[in-house]
Amino acid sequence: MSMNLVTLLYLIASICFIQALKGLSHPTTSIRGNVFGMVGMAIAVVTTAALIYKLAGESAQGLVYVLGGLVVGGGIGAYMANRVEMTKMPELVAFMHSMIGLAAVFIAVAAAVEPWAFGITGHNSPIPHGNRLELALGAAIGAITFSGSVIAFGKLSGKYKFRLFQGAPVQFKGQHMLNLALALALVFFIVGYTVSEARIDMWLLIALAFVLGVLIIIPIGGADMPVVVSMLNSYSGWAAAGIGFSLNNSMLIIAGSLVGSSGAILSYIMCKAMNRSFFNVILGGFGGDAAAATGGKAEQRPVKSGSADDAAFVLSQAETVVIVPGYGLAVARAQHAVKELAAKLTEKGINVKYAIHPVAGRMPGHMNVLLAEAEVPYDQVFEMEDINGEFGQADVAIILGANDVVNPAAHTKGSPIYGMPILEAYKAKTVIVNKRSMAAGYAGLDNELFYMDKTMMVFGDAKKVVEDIGKAVE
Ligand code: TAP
Repeated sequence: MSMNLVTLLYLIASICFIQALKGLSHPTTSIRGNVFGMVGMAIAVVTTAALIYKLAGESAQGLVYVLGGLVVGGGIGAYMANRVEMTKMPELVAFMHSMIGLAAVFIAVAAAVEPWAFGITGHNSPIPHGNRLELALGAAIGAITFSGSVIAFGKLSGKYKFRLFQGAPVQFKGQHMLNLALALALVFFIVGYTVSEARIDMWLLIALAFVLGVLIIIPIGGADMPVVVSMLNSYSGWAAAGIGFSLNNSMLIIAGSLVGSSGAILSYIMCKAMNRSFFNVILGGFGGDAAAATGGKAEQRPVKSGSADDAAFVLSQAETVVIVPGYGLAVARAQHAVKELAAKLTEKGINVKYAIHPVAGRMPGHMNVLLAEAEVPYDQVFEMEDINGEFGQADVAIILGANDVVNPAAHTKGSPIYGMPILEAYKAKTVIVNKRSMAAGYAGLDNELFYMDKTMMVFGDAKKVVEDIGKAVE
């Protein structure tokens, strides 16, 4: 295989990746986007395997290792992806980011120790300064991505032992100064390695970056986790691109840059949607009051509660109903039941709309995916900015397994979610809330909406409650 053919195949794979990103930007084209991504990745992998075979000459020992890694790693990945529930996707994504980060660290270390094996230098020649900088940056970003993603995984899955309660940020005095000092020390060792090629600088910068990754993520509050996941996604891309430069591999550079830049753009869009400053989220804890979180415990205050029959009666009297789906709807897998309920209401001449918050659920576009799976018509589904003006005129807002995204605490200074735009369901004439208990949402905050005079709580699993409401409406 000639190098020209390798370059051409890498170019085709890159075009597939760009088409994949384009396709994934809309539900109707997302399947096509995924197919492009898979084809591009297959071309990239096969081309790289052929390249290794060509470079290895007679002995194809390297290729055997690579194929072994592909079978073992690919097998584990396929098994995990098959088993994972939709609501656990962010954890899987965080886990994958951590693996990319660790891979970048391993490659950087291997290339620093045996640069001739990677074609960077000849035997016993010093590594050129440019390559040293690329290796140091790749290792540092990879190590931050690894340890940060491990913490993010723990926070998302609730397995994070140091955290006192779900979604609560871990903050301490002097945290920002400590992070700054560590960041400066990291830069010092990156420069040190670039100038001297001393291995000790490489070990120290990796150790510092591991610690920094942990410290950057622990102060971040639950409601800001979506931004963190996409930020780590971006880091993992830049780490891969940095290593691509060292290895002189154009595919890694292009794919890494695509992941890095699309992750950065997604983080920016999410920050804008949640009215957060990107730097404040990265630095963690600004403007948030960790003590305001209730730790997921319910407050002991009276609420009005009713049955599915009561909810059906209220809904049947309405002219306009806005459905607000949230994480609990996904947990209960109640999307088909909701669609059926909406169809019954529509048959009665009631105008039904769905309101989607950009971070409802546990991954970007989570609610859109759920509703699309149930084949809810797209023209009934409205994004936050398009529907918020309509809550004031809606007769009923029915909130199904959502909490943080409708929490008016976002308007209260000092609240950890202060400034985050919410679906203004509290403006509807009547509010029906379905959840299983009075427990807090992901950010660990109590929700005033549940205690309002016009709110009726209907306790129970979303699927069962929605099915019961549907039967009663009939
Ligand atoms: P949450 O605030 O997490 O609230 C979900 C509610 O659903 C809970 O209060 C829970 O109360 C209820 N629930 C759980 N299982 C249920 C079931 N089977 N039936 C009925 N209700 C059930 O959800 P949200 O309003 O969608 O907000 C999302 C939160 O997650 C935001 O803070 C967001 O920042 C964060 N987050 C989002 C993402 C992305 S990218 N979307 C990623 C990570 C984190 P009970 O236990 O009382 O039932």
